[in-house]
Amino acid sequence: MLAIEQYTRRLLKDFHPIVAANRAPVDLAPEAGESQRFVRGGGGLVTGLSGLAQATGAVWVASVRDGFEGELDLGEGGEPMLVETVDGARYQISWVNPPKLAYDLYYNTIANPLLWFVQHYLWNLAEAPVLDDSTHRAWNEGYRTVNQMFANQVVREARRSRKRPLVLTHDYHLYLVPRLVRRELPDAVLQHYVHIPWPTPQYWKVLPQYMREEIMDGLLAADIVGLQTSHDVRNFLLTCEENMGLPVDFRQQSAFYRGRTVWVRNYPISIDVREFERTASTPAVERAEREILRWRTEQLIYRVDRMDLSKNIVRGFYAYDRLLQAHSEWRGRVIFWAMLQKTRQNVPEYREYARQVLQAARAINARHGTTEWQPIRLELREDLNRAIAGYKQFDVLFVNPIYDGMNLVAKEGISVNRRGGMLVLSENAGTHEELGEWAITINPFDIDATAEALHRALLTDPVERHSRSEKMRTVVQQNDVARWISAQLQDIRDLVEPLAARQPEFVRESAFSRLADRQ
Ligand code: F6P
Repeated sequence: MLAIEQYTRRLLKDFHPIVAANRAPVDLAPEAGESQRFVRGGGGLVTGLSGLAQATGAVWVASVRDGFEGELDLGEGGEPMLVETVDGARYQISWVNPPKLAYDLYYNTIANPLLWFVQHYLWNLAEAPVLDDSTHRAWNEGYRTVNQMFANQVVREARRSRKRPLVLTHDYHLYLVPRLVRRELPDAVLQHYVHIPWPTPQYWKVLPQYMREEIMDGLLAADIVGLQTSHDVRNFLLTCEENMGLPVDFRQQSAFYRGRTVWVRNYPISIDVREFERTASTPAVERAEREILRWRTEQLIYRVDRMDLSKNIVRGFYAYDRLLQAHSEWRGRVIFWAMLQKTRQNVPEYREYARQVLQAARAINARHGTTEWQPIRLELREDLNRAIAGYKQFDVLFVNPIYDGMNLVAKEGISVNRRGGMLVLSENAGTHEELGEWAITINPFDIDATAEALHRALLTDPVERHSRSEKMRTVVQQNDVARWISAQLQDIRDLVEPLAARQPEFVRESAFSRLADRQ
C-alpha cells in the first residue's frame, strides 16, 4: 500500500478525512480482557476501508457493538481512541455508543432484516415483510436515533480541525447521515458509499414512502454516491427519477436535487492483492495447507461465507446433491468444503437460515456418504489462515449468491489459488462484471444448471483451467484496492478543484473550524 498511501496523503493534505461506518475496523481478540487486545476486523467493508483509513490517518467513527461494552475505555469527551491491533495496524476510532435498545432497533430491526432484505431481494413478498407499528417505532427510535448520533460524532470530529472535512460515510446503516451532517457542515465534502446492491425502484416500494424518501434525501445530500457496479448506478439513477421525480443524467451519471448536482459513480471494491499474497505464504497458512492435503480428494469444491440468506448456501448444497445424483462418477472423488461463519444471530431469519444450512448438509451426507467419504465437509469457524489455505487448494470456487454487492471471496480466492482453480459464479454477484467472462456463470436459483456448471468446472482440462485462472488473476491484480481508493480520490479531486477555483477562500479558515488544528 505504500504508493497509494503517499498518493492519498498528497491528495488529501488539505482535508480532514473522517470515515463513518457501523463496524469498527477492529474486533476484540478472543482473549481480550483488561489488556484490550484487538485484531483486524473482517468483512468487505473493513477490508476495503482499512487501507484508506491508515493511509490518511482518518478518524473512523464506528459504533460500540455487542461484546465491546465494558471492554473499551471510551475516553473523555468522545476523544478518538488510538487502537493498535496485535499485528501492528493503528486506527483512530471515535466510538458512538447508542443505548442498547436504540442499537437493537437500528441494527436488528431496520438495517439487517429490512434494508438488507430490500437490497438483496430476499423476501417472498406474498408473506413478508409485514410492516406495522413496531417497524415505524424502530425507524423512529432506532434508525433515526443512531444515525443522528453518528452525525453528531462526525460533526464533533470535523470541528476539531481547521481543515475542510471530507466525510466518507458507508453502507445501509447510515443512509441518513449525509443529510444530517450537511445541515451542520454545509461546506464539507461528503461521499456515501453503498457496499450492497441497489435494487430497482419498484422493489424499493416495499418500504413506506416516508422511509424510502428519507433514505434518498439523506443520500442525495452527499456530493458523490458511490456504488459497486454500473448496474447499481443505473438502478440508483432510476430510483431518483421514478421514485423521487428528479431529473437525472445517465451519461454524466448525475442526479439533480435541491439545486445541487450529485455524482453517482461505481467503484468496484477489492482486496490488497500483495498483502493477501504475502499472507498466503506465511508458515501458518502453509501449516493449514498441509492439514488440508491429508484429507482432500482428487477434486475440491470450496466456499467461504457468512451464513447469510443472500449467499444462497442451501441451494448450493442442493445443486451439489444433484451433481452427485446425475454424475455418480464423482462420488468418493470430490469433497465440497464449506467454511461458514454464523452471523447476525439476533435476527430470527438468520437463526432459521443457519438451521436450514446445517440440516441440508447433514441430509446430503446421510444420503451419499460412506464410511470412507463424506461428500460435504462443513466447518463453522472464522480462521483467516485456514480460509486462505483453502483458497490455495480449491479446484472449484463456488460463489452462488442470490444477489451480492461485490463478493470479495471470489477475488481473494482467485488471487492466491495454486491449482488453476475454476470459478463458478452467480450472474448476480457484483464481481461478475469483472470476472464473468472467464468464470462459469450460473443462475443462482437454478439448481440443475448449477449442478451442470459444477460438473463442467470439475471436468475442464488443466490447460483451459490455468488459462482462465490466469486471466482472472490479472483482472484482480489490476483492479485491486489501491485502484478502488484512487478512483474515489480522483473523483473527489475533480469535484473539489472547480469549487476551490470559484471559492479560493475555502481552504482558509471557515466559520466552523475555530478549534485548533490538531494535525
Ligand atoms: O457491506 C456489507 C457488509 O457490511 C460487509 O462489509 C460485511 O461482509 C458484512 O456486511 C458484515 O455485516 P455485519 O457488520 O452485520 O456483520
